[in-house]
Amino acid sequence: MHVEVDHPCVQHKLALIRDAETGHKRFRELATEITMFVCYEALKNLELEDVEVQTPVATAQCRKIANDVFVIPILRAGIGMLDGILELVPTARVGFMGLYRDEATKQPVEYYNKMPVNTDSAIYIVVDPMLATGGSTVAALDALKANGMKRGIVVCIVTCPEGIATVESAHPDITIYTASVDDYLNEKKYIVPGLGDAGDRLFGTR
Ligand code: PRP
Ligand code: URA
Repeated sequence: MHVEVDHPCVQHKLALIRDAETGHKRFRELATEITMFVCYEALKNLELEDVEVQTPVATAQCRKIANDVFVIPILRAGIGMLDGILELVPTARVGFMGLYRDEATKQPVEYYNKMPVNTDSAIYIVVDPMLATGGSTVAALDALKANGMKRGIVVCIVTCPEGIATVESAHPDITIYTASVDDYLNEKKYIVPGLGDAGDRLFGTR
């Protein structure tokens, strides 16, 4: 299943981040802002627990997030979404999954993996701005499930029908949240119209 966050503020920022004239500083800011909006929607099913809080006036019956939240950015472009989600859930633990897409085969290659210790209540949020063929996301979910993940979601900025179908077929229990389902993948397996190479645009490497 996937959810496209069609809020006007998200769509406005998407128009700005897609623009080839947008430089890496603004690209990073927009990635953070879009991530916050998409994650706001993605996190609405987090569980809450009752807590009492002493205000200056009285005792208030309040609720706080009960889940352990683990954020897993797929390196390197996923780093561009980390600040945005940590603004919403500052106590989240962060694990890193290093994957790059081999330029010739387009298959993901793992080069780093450092995860928080799994807990029963953990909800894993895999973040990567681009879900293209879906290979990287599937590889990350495979590794997380092998490591004990029971509940997870994926948050991206842009995806396409091919990528959604691949993730849904390999991991039907996982919901993908995105700001846009774009049209298709081109011959280089880039999303069209997409954002281009998200890692290079975030970090100014090209
Ligand atoms: C990009 C992107 C995803 C992956 C998406 O990373 O950030 O991780 O490609 O493609 P897929 O869905 O077809 O697997 P890339 O391999 O360019 O590495 P980078 O983040 O280090 O730039
Ligand atoms: N990786 C990117 O950065 N962009 C795409 O469109 C596809 C993969």
